[in-house]
Amino acid sequence: MQFSEILDHRRSTRAYTGEPVTREQLDIMLEAGVRAPNACNAQCWHFFCTLDRKLIEGLVPEIYNRGDWLRDVGCIILICTDPDSLEPRFGAIVRERFAVQDTAAAATQILQCATTLGLAGCWMGAFDREKARNYFGVPAEMEPVIMLGIGHAAAEPPARPRKPMTEVVTMVGDCGRAEKRSVDEITPFAIRKASLPKAEFDNVNLSRATFNNVNLSGAAFTDANMKNTTYSGLTMQGAEFGCVDLRDATFANPDLSRTVFDGCSLRDVQIKNCDIAGMTVDGIAVDALIEAAKKKD
Ligand SMILES: Cc1cc2nc3c(=O)[nH]c(=O)nc-3n(C[C@H](O)[C@H](O)[C@H](O)COP(=O)(O)O)c2cc1C
Repeated sequence: MQFSEILDHRRSTRAYTGEPVTREQLDIMLEAGVRAPNACNAQCWHFFCTLDRKLIEGLVPEIYNRGDWLRDVGCIILICTDPDSLEPRFGAIVRERFAVQDTAAAATQILQCATTLGLAGCWMGAFDREKARNYFGVPAEMEPVIMLGIGHAAAEPPARPRKPMTEVVTMVGDCGRAEKRSVDEITPFAIRKASLPKAEFDNVNLSRATFNNVNLSGAAFTDANMKNTTYSGLTMQGAEFGCVDLRDATFANPDLSRTVFDGCSLRDVQIKNCDIAGMTVDGIAVDALIEAAKKKD
């Protein structure tokens, strides 16, 4: 998921299906949370989590009384801070301020991560802190700050409008001229030095993508839009293509041995200086046909 899609789809959601969130999804979201920026990397946070349906339902209305929807989330993350564990060189006020900012950074990353997992969430600040402390067994030195409810959205709420940039942003000094471009155009999605065995790409638009030194041996492509793609250093032994649009794609020195093309348009394809021994089209050996045609000439 590109960053613009996270921005488009993350909404504070207040209607859930009741479907569970898995432990694996929770662990991924927590990983995103603990990678958030935090003061001095002191990580003065603690995450109390539950996937337990009974515990989730028990939060309403005692701990959270602003909506029954919370009963139907699949996961609760109560983010707490332990400000005293921040470096003693910070004064009390600074420590507390930093500690709260840390939890907010973690919460933001968790909610964005939830979006990439196809989940929805809602940030709750208006809950009973003392009751939450008892409920989750939060020790005295920690302070509950944010409660996140995460689950499967019953419906995606409409995006809530933001104030115009001119109202909330002041450019100071020379900041260049305004140019409206999407975040993805400025920072195109890139995968570098990745190992993606068993990766699944479903309904993926790869048009204008560039692949360098890619090993696609054994890969299967169906219904793929791969128009105008560029490939160099490509190994595709045993790859299978079904209903793939490779119009105007450029392949430089690829190894395509044993690749299967099924239901593809190869119209106006030019094959030059290639080893086509054993190549068949609908079961007919192409090399024998070419040899026969050459002899005829
Ligand atoms: C500090 C903070 C406290 C919030 N507290 C609550 C809350 O108690 N209950 C709730 O339903 N939403 C709460 N929200 C969610 C906001 O209402 C929501 O982010 C805002 O309306 C913008 O909508 P959006 O997140 O869909 O863009 C809170 C958000 C923040 C950042």
